[in-house]
Amino acid sequence: MEYSESASAEREQTQVNAASRKPRILLAASGSVAAIKFGNLCHCFSEWAEVRAVATRASLHFIDRAALPKGVVLYTDEDEWSSWNKIGDSVLHIELRRWADIMVIAPLSANTLGKIAGGLCDNLLTCIVRAWDYNKPLFVAPAMNTFMWNNPFTERHLMSIDELGISLIPPVTKRLACGDYGNGAMAEPSLIYSTVRLFVESKIQQGGSSNVH
Ligand SMILES: Cc1cc2nc3c(=O)[nH]c(=O)nc-3n(C[C@H](O)[C@H](O)[C@H](O)COP(=O)(O)O)c2cc1C
Repeated sequence: MEYSESASAEREQTQVNAASRKPRILLAASGSVAAIKFGNLCHCFSEWAEVRAVATRASLHFIDRAALPKGVVLYTDEDEWSSWNKIGDSVLHIELRRWADIMVIAPLSANTLGKIAGGLCDNLLTCIVRAWDYNKPLFVAPAMNTFMWNNPFTERHLMSIDELGISLIPPVTKRLACGDYGNGAMAEPSLIYSTVRLFVESKIQQGGSSNVH
């Protein structure tokens, strides 16, 4: 099957299923200190949606796996490689892209922002993004030190991801974990949740299903 044919078949299949099920949200964390709120973020979404989670190696320093809701599977780079042995086996980053209606990267680190903007894909999270079907929404909530946020690279990288069709949930100004005061703190999990949910509900009101393509 040609790529475009298979992508369209994938979308049709999701549309058929979506009418009768909860939205499928793929939550991903990268290695910002704000990943300590990832468990809270998963809880915010898991009443309303089916949730699967992805974590970069660096983010695992901040995530308390025991704080994740029961039933939310957290996928890491190890799972990407342990689940594949030979041609014919499923490829995790493709399976997760197929499964998800929406992807939300929160927190988005400066490093992962730069990699997405440059098209790099050297871990599970960035492979999902590189293989993403941009007919489906992808939200990011950056979180970094104010000097990182104000670095000229940030604006360039944000412009590149905007061109891809990625939606920004902007950071906020407050006292940061490192002690500096300024912009760069991740939006609160409740705000990230309400932004995504309002987006989905507005699509449904416009005549779509919970599948927001
Ligand atoms: C204690 C600590 C806190 C950090 N906090 C942040 C942060 O808030 N934002 C950020 O972009 N990077 C932060 N970093 C740096 C990232 O963890 C580092 O760039 C890492 O390579 C990111 O990898 P990832 O993008 O693959 O998750 C922090 C590093 C440490 C050691």
